[in-house]
Amino acid sequence: GNIPLEMHKVRIVQKLNLPPVERRVEAIKEAGNNTFLLKNSDIFMDMLTDSGVNAMSDNQLAAMMQADDSYAGSETFTRLENKIREIFDKRFFLPAHQGRACENILAQGLVKPGAIVATNYHFTTTKAHITLQSGSVEELVIDEGLNVNSNHPFKGNMDIEKLNVLIEKHGAENIAFVRLEAGTNLIGGQPFSLQNMREVQKVCKDFGIILILDASLLADNLYFIKEREEACKDMSIRKITRIMSELSDVIYFSARKLGCARGGGLCTNSEEIYLKLREYITLYEGFLTYGGMSVREMEAITVGLEETMDEDMINQGPRFIAYMVEKLQEKGVPVVTPAGGLGCHIDAMSFVDHIPQSQYPAGALAAALYIAGGVRGMERGTISEQRDEQGNEVFANVELLRLAMPRRVFTLSQVEYAIDRVVWLYENRKLIEGLTFVEEPKVLRFFFGKLTAV
Ligand code: F0G
Repeated sequence: GNIPLEMHKVRIVQKLNLPPVERRVEAIKEAGNNTFLLKNSDIFMDMLTDSGVNAMSDNQLAAMMQADDSYAGSETFTRLENKIREIFDKRFFLPAHQGRACENILAQGLVKPGAIVATNYHFTTTKAHITLQSGSVEELVIDEGLNVNSNHPFKGNMDIEKLNVLIEKHGAENIAFVRLEAGTNLIGGQPFSLQNMREVQKVCKDFGIILILDASLLADNLYFIKEREEACKDMSIRKITRIMSELSDVIYFSARKLGCARGGGLCTNSEEIYLKLREYITLYEGFLTYGGMSVREMEAITVGLEETMDEDMINQGPRFIAYMVEKLQEKGVPVVTPAGGLGCHIDAMSFVDHIPQSQYPAGALAAALYIAGGVRGMERGTISEQRDEQGNEVFANVELLRLAMPRRVFTLSQVEYAIDRVVWLYENRKLIEGLTFVEEPKVLRFFFGKLTAV
């Protein structure tokens, strides 16, 4: 059958705690119904994110012990730089402390006031950095990308027609760069195809526009290209990575997701771009041979990048997610299809269709699922958006509850438990009430905002 197999064995474990429902009710109240504000001691299954919480391998831990602690010229940095050169074939590597640090540097270096960044779909921190530089973001994902129930294998594809129209309307000179996000996060971890990337690159090349790949969720996207794209099924993961890299002028990543540790970085073959970005690294991140990362995490990234080239490693997330999606679908629970990477995404708009979008259905569902089972997910809907310049609410295109699947962390019985709790909640969904803000921060409000039942 479709039982996902763990292609590893568990050798170090961490004890979990399942607080009683009375404590869970209290805990979510203390957290202002915001799952970001829950304490881990109150959580059984932490499905908030796949960021910084993936399991590490024996080889990663071993490498961490061999780290070279020198401020400048560290061997550890050289190993990471060499691995980047080997896998991505990019000459220049700039280390940064995590993905959004790369976004800050890209935005400061490349986005002038009024400039547009065209993307398949925005990510929260990316958009915040671009708007901070008075730029704007245009979303050009194919229409099917926003259709929560679909059988399109590549819902993260960019619409080439929309890209051409945008360039015609604003002029290539007003487009700071085109950004393709692998494993498109906010629409359910949906991939783009290699063919689509080729087409996007052709347009960029014709108009002299920089193409930037956000490779934070590259592992999932690589797996889906190999699984779902006929022309790629006989290619190695390494080969697909190389082609994606050849098509990109700049690649940046959050190593909290890619490489399984902490950290991040940017790489490019363009000396001009490299020189433009380099000074910001030393200003914001640290010296050029660590960029805010510890040597131990750099060693883990070096090994983690190599392990990402192993199909048995990168299939773990997507296969467990597909299992969860399939089981929930069988019970009639509205989930995003096809199953993507990153996590299982529940369609909150339909799950709690008695809650209007102005009362944050996805946020309400996240709080309720925590009470129902001690399972912590993340709101990916209107709370994750920012208000417009006039202070009006910007309704998200999709209201999702994301149940992230940290890679190689949960066993299948834990996943079965999460499925059981979601199904129970679905059967009792009328208990769930909408939310309203009591404390609403201006920037990235989803991190710290507090809400109460309306
Ligand atoms: N790009 C993508 C596609 C991401 O998913 C993230 C982080 C970032 C950039 C920023 O990287 O966290 O290292 O600064 N996503 C996390 C998440 C936060 O939970 O989805 P970071």
